[in-house]
Amino acid sequence: MERELFSTWTIGSLEIKNRLVRSATGERNAEATGEVNDEIANIYKTLAEGGIGLIITGHAFVSPDGRTKEGQLGIHDDYCIDGLTKIAGTVHASGSRILLQISHGGSRSQPLGTKGNTDRAIKGANDFSLKEIEKIRSNFITAAARAEKAGFDGIQIHGAHRYLLSEFLSPVTNTRNDEYGGRNGGTRLIKDIIKGIRSSVSEGFVVTIKVGTDIDENGNNQNDLLLSIEDFIKAGLDCVEISKGIAPLDSTVKEKIKPHINEAYNLDVALYIKNHLPDFPIIVVGGIRSIETAEDILRQGINAVALCRPLIMEPDLPYRWMENDRRPATCISCARCIMENGPVICHIKKALKK
Ligand SMILES: Cc1cc2nc3c(=O)[nH]c(=O)nc-3n(C[C@H](O)[C@H](O)[C@H](O)COP(=O)(O)O)c2cc1C
Repeated sequence: MERELFSTWTIGSLEIKNRLVRSATGERNAEATGEVNDEIANIYKTLAEGGIGLIITGHAFVSPDGRTKEGQLGIHDDYCIDGLTKIAGTVHASGSRILLQISHGGSRSQPLGTKGNTDRAIKGANDFSLKEIEKIRSNFITAAARAEKAGFDGIQIHGAHRYLLSEFLSPVTNTRNDEYGGRNGGTRLIKDIIKGIRSSVSEGFVVTIKVGTDIDENGNNQNDLLLSIEDFIKAGLDCVEISKGIAPLDSTVKEKIKPHINEAYNLDVALYIKNHLPDFPIIVVGGIRSIETAEDILRQGINAVALCRPLIMEPDLPYRWMENDRRPATCISCARCIMENGPVICHIKKALKK
């Protein structure tokens, strides 16, 4: 079936006005407590006014020990709900939908209250006790319930890029020999999180995940990924976004993407999953820069395309394309937005303004 970029589609019962998705982008300008401030609220207002169908927020930490960077959004405490409610309200006012991405940083954490390098022992998938894993599970479930309270349309579990949940999924980082080890054990925690969220939120609230293949040859390939996704669907998953690798290394946020030349670097894996799960909603992210490529991806059966860096530079790109200005995104994929410290901005745009 041919799908148009500006046609509606659904995740569960959630109708979305077009097939352009803002992939999760940690803005690094929230309050030190993880709360929303005017700057961050304004980013979401501008994005929604720019015509995007679905927004996925930057990853929000589900517990203080799972924060990864200063300025990251939090969903670890009820005090975060008020600010997030404002974001959801503004986004809905412009007709866009919004999911909160929820995460635990695992071995990449920089716990709340710490700055830069920390002496505290940072734990990865192998290091948590069964009791601690139970706490992590319940923190994700509580975070999703908070997102629903704040008026979000659903959540996206961050299961990619070597944060904690992808550490559990990958045989490279998960060498446990208890019920959370091995392929089945690796997916267990996420399955339990999905089931727990499903039973604590209302029926229409959508539960999605972002996952990716490993770049390590001993890691998960596309078939391993498919098997995990099948398990997650049985647990109640509504949609998956396909990514790759370890952020911010080159496999996740690839540099030097040229329109029509080397776009859509995760499409092969997304199509592999789609071919096996034709009726399941699949979003693909990674190096999509031209409207022709986006349209071609949809023609091949993928349900929606996600963009990150192009929307940092041009938050109104969806409107531009909708109004038939078909020039590619102006983002040159330098990746300075993620590499440089401080709040995320487009450094090229800043230099052009000078
Ligand atoms: C500044 C920046 C922040 C990002 N933050 C997140 C994040 O919070 N969660 C996530 O899953 N991916 C994050 N990513 C990865 C993007 O969502 C996306 O997968 C990647 O950039 C490839 O898409 P693109 O080529 O359209 O930029 C981030 C990327 C950038 C550049």
